[in-house]
Amino acid sequence: MKTLFFETIDSTNTYLKDHYEELEDMTFLSAGYQYRGRGRMGRTWISERGKNLTFSLLLKDTDVIRQYRVLSVLSAFSIIEVLRGYGIEELGLKWPNDVYAKDAKICGILLEGVSAKKMECLIIGIGLNVNEEDFDEGFLQKATSMKLLLNRQIDLSRLKEEVYQRLAENIEKLKRGEDFHEEIAAFDYLKGKHVFCHIDGEEKPVEVLGIDSDYSLKLLCEGEIRNLSSSELTFHI
Ligand code: BTN
Repeated sequence: MKTLFFETIDSTNTYLKDHYEELEDMTFLSAGYQYRGRGRMGRTWISERGKNLTFSLLLKDTDVIRQYRVLSVLSAFSIIEVLRGYGIEELGLKWPNDVYAKDAKICGILLEGVSAKKMECLIIGIGLNVNEEDFDEGFLQKATSMKLLLNRQIDLSRLKEEVYQRLAENIEKLKRGEDFHEEIAAFDYLKGKHVFCHIDGEEKPVEVLGIDSDYSLKLLCEGEIRNLSSSELTFHI
């Protein structure tokens, strides 16, 4: 495992995408500040300098990256495990990979693959709100941070170490064929909720039945059971 740190960078995901060929599998890259941080669905990810965790993990092992559906939820689950260790309660995994605490978003994850003839690598980009206290009211979702929930300043470098370790351990377990479904399902934030979902080019009301054993999301839509696979993966050549 190799760790890299840049005080300032455009985006840790972008850097790994541009340099994956010369970097080794399991390279962790974190940044003090990203001036072009990216979120899912083309959104920007804004994070104040030195206050939060913004990092990406590069995966190049083909046996691991073909399991990107599991990796998507497993990354969020790894963050949940670390946050639990800090005593944070009411944690939820909003499929495919947002982490919620007390009904507010505390962590966002952006998975990106680079593919040519085959999938060359997978990048897991994680933004965890740590010591941030002011969140723009204009944000799409209500946001929170570890500091707001715990009422104390968190040591960023210790936390970073813990997150890295937990992710690496869980990826090792995945390689050994461990199944995480039951543990993950215990944090299913959407289960039982009635929401609107973009399906077949339309917004439809659905009832979420929960994260299924293959880590897809099981829904009841117009009387029919449907399984959604994580649709927000983007691939670049
Ligand atoms: C989301 O939209 O919820 C996903 C946010 C992902 C943000 C992280 S911060 C580190 C990595 N680099 C980026 O540019 N984005 C991800």
